[in-house]
This record gives sequence, C-alpha cells and structure tokens, in this order.
Amino acid sequence: MDLKVQPKSSLRGNIKMPGDKSISHRSVMIGSLAAGKTEVSGFLTGEDCLNTAKAFQNMGVKIEGLGSEEMVIHGVGLNGLQEPESILDVGNSGTSMRLMLGILSGQDFYSVITGDESLSQRPMARVTDPLKEMGAEIYGRDNGNLAPLTVRGQELTNLEYDSPVASAQVKSCILLAGLQADGATIVNEPEKSRDHTERMLEYFGAEVEVSGLQVSVKGRPALKGKKITVPSDISSAAFFLVAALINQDSELVLENVGLNPTRAGILEVLDEMEADYELLDERLENKEPIADIKVKSSDLKATTIGGEVIPKLIDEIPILAVAATQAEGRTVIKDAAELRVKETDRISAMVTELKKLGIEVEEKEDGMIIEGPQSIQGGVQCQSYGDHRIAMSLAVAGLIAKEDIVITNTDCIKTSFPNFIDLIDEI
Ligand code: S3P
Repeated sequence: MDLKVQPKSSLRGNIKMPGDKSISHRSVMIGSLAAGKTEVSGFLTGEDCLNTAKAFQNMGVKIEGLGSEEMVIHGVGLNGLQEPESILDVGNSGTSMRLMLGILSGQDFYSVITGDESLSQRPMARVTDPLKEMGAEIYGRDNGNLAPLTVRGQELTNLEYDSPVASAQVKSCILLAGLQADGATIVNEPEKSRDHTERMLEYFGAEVEVSGLQVSVKGRPALKGKKITVPSDISSAAFFLVAALINQDSELVLENVGLNPTRAGILEVLDEMEADYELLDERLENKEPIADIKVKSSDLKATTIGGEVIPKLIDEIPILAVAATQAEGRTVIKDAAELRVKETDRISAMVTELKKLGIEVEEKEDGMIIEGPQSIQGGVQCQSYGDHRIAMSLAVAGLIAKEDIVITNTDCIKTSFPNFIDLIDEI
C-alpha cells in the first residue's frame, strides 16, 4: 500500500496509543511458561505480537481472544510446550525470534523458526552463540547466524554471559533459556537495555536479582499465571509526540503511556531539546510506571544523542531525526550503530529519505548529523524499506512538508501500530 500524506497544521486531541510491543510479546511467552491462566488486557494486535501468539498456539498453548486486546493465555508450565507440527513463522519480528530461541533451546523437541526476508537477514549469532554455550543445538545458514533456524531442544546448563551489545533481545533470550537450567543464569550488559523481561519474570514469581548492569535469574522457577495490563507503547507515542512538537498550534494528550525508565530515553532528549510537554496522572501498573503525556508545539533546540541513553530510545531514533530537522542548531546522533541491523539499516534509510525531502544530513557509521532548522520539501515519493518505524517517521515529516509526499510500501506499519493512519486522520 502507498500512503499519501498531506501537510497539516494544528494537531489536536486526546488519543490512546496501542499496547506496548515488548510487553505484549513477553505476556504471551511468560504467560505460556507459567502454570494457569494469564489474563492480558491492552495487548498489541500488531502483526509482530500476533505472530508470537500464533507460534505458541502452534506449540499447544490455548489462547482465547487472539486478535483482540483482551486475551486469556492458558499457561502450560516450563515443560509443557508441545513439538510444533509446522514451521514457526514469526514474520518481521526480531523480538519473537530471538526470545523464542531461548525458550525452544531448552524444550525437549524439534522445531524450525523462520521469518520474512528482512528477518532472515538479521544477525542471530548474537543469541545462538551464547545459547550454544549453554548446550543448545541450533543449526542455520551462516553457521547458525541466519534464519531459518532449526533447534533440537537440550538439557541446558546455566551461564554467566558478558554481552557485547546492550540488547534486551539478547539479555531476554538468555534469561528465558536460564529458566530451564539449574542454578542462576547471569547476564552482564555494557549498558542497561529495557528490563521488561526481568520485571515480568519477577511478577510471575521467578527469583530475579538486578545489580547495576547485571541481571540474574534462578532456574526452574514455579511461574504462576497473572493479570497483565499492557500500557501504551512509548515507541508508538513517539511519533505523535514529535508530530505535535514540530507542528504549529498543536496540543495532544497521549493517554496511558508506559514510562519504564529503560524505555523513556526520548523524554530525556526532549527535555534537552526544550520540548513543551508534561506528565499527568503518573501511576504504577504491574510494576511498570505509566502516565498521560500532554505535548504542545515547541521551538526545539538541537542536542547530542549518544552514550548510555541510546538503548533507552533505540527505536525512537528515526523519529528523533525528524525532530532534529526542526531544532535550532546541530543535532548529533552517535553510538547508534545497532540501527544498521534493525528491520532495515535505519541510518542509511533515514539519511536517504530525508535527503529526498530536501534535508541536508551527514551520514556517520554510528549515526548522523543534522543542522536545523530546515524546511521539509514535498512533492516526492519516499520509501519505507518495509520498516514500520521508517514509514511512520516519514509520515510525520510529511505533515510539515511544503507539498504532499507519497510513501510506498507502508503495509509494514501494521507490524507495530495497526491504527496509526486512523489516529493521524483523527487529530
Ligand atoms: C526489543 C528490544 C530492542 C528493540 C526492539 C524490541 C525487545 O531490540 O529495538 O524493537 O522487546 O526486547 P534490541 O534488544 O536488539 O536492541
């Protein structure tokens, strides 16, 4: 599908973003490994999370309400999954593949997991290598680096792993494998990545210890089904935050947004950019902090985005690049080479597409530099590279362009934000 975006000013309204993608994935995985019922509300019905749920159905987990925001997962316990009859196809979802590899590695059956063209090119050795150290048997192209991957589940042994990347997918994969081994499994990270797995495992009854950049989980816990209310996804809210900030005469209230500190790096950066926003009704749900965010048009200032904040806003960098085009001064984005192995190479994609929109931007190996403010020209056709966050970032840029823009291949938006276009229309 192609998307035509017309420039618009004065965005106004109260809107609710869809459920958090990371928490939705984990609710299915951990709910399936727990004993008894897990009732989830606010589940993200994007394709990525539905693919996780279908994969667990394929392994014998009964899930009621699949396709809606309210679901009941009938957990089967740590050893209750069944050998899937067909290939587990998780589409575009790196989180599904990496976290599930940790689970599949310790199950006493054979499975094959695959994904779409983009996912089949993304590096999996970052999880299959440490899993092999735990005793996992995994085969795939490029020495177990590329999907499709075949797993013959094994008895796993615990591990202390020093991860070379600050990646919640790597950390979570190893912790989920560690649930199935005796003793404590420990992950040390170079920087803190999102901690939803730790929080949820603890909420379900696992013994989890966190000390600085170290996380440890004790194997073979008796996980018990729970109620989970999924907050709205700050990574989805980011598009509307920036849309309101860079659009004249705008004011939006984004309801119920998850503000876990390991995810809310965008707010730290927006503070430095002097963005006008406030948090309303701050509260805690299932160990996760939440608030409504009221945001208004602002005269943004440039800043440097790098170092330890990067893992806390890794998915928001494409939309922050759009914000940078409107900020006064030189915005430097650095230490973000991980963007090159996301759904597409997000550094190259944003630099190429922003240039098409008339923006001067300097590409760096680990980021980019944008001198602002610059006006966004329209009248061009951009492409999404099949990446939902590139498509949505360009759509927000289109709202302040001088003329209409067309973005090709935007079906991918459905992976994380099925009602994005409806909400844009609504405001
Ligand atoms: C995710 C972790 C991040 C993020 C992805 C979701 C997760 O990836 O980019 O969208 O739910 O654990 P990395 O952990 O590989 O950085």
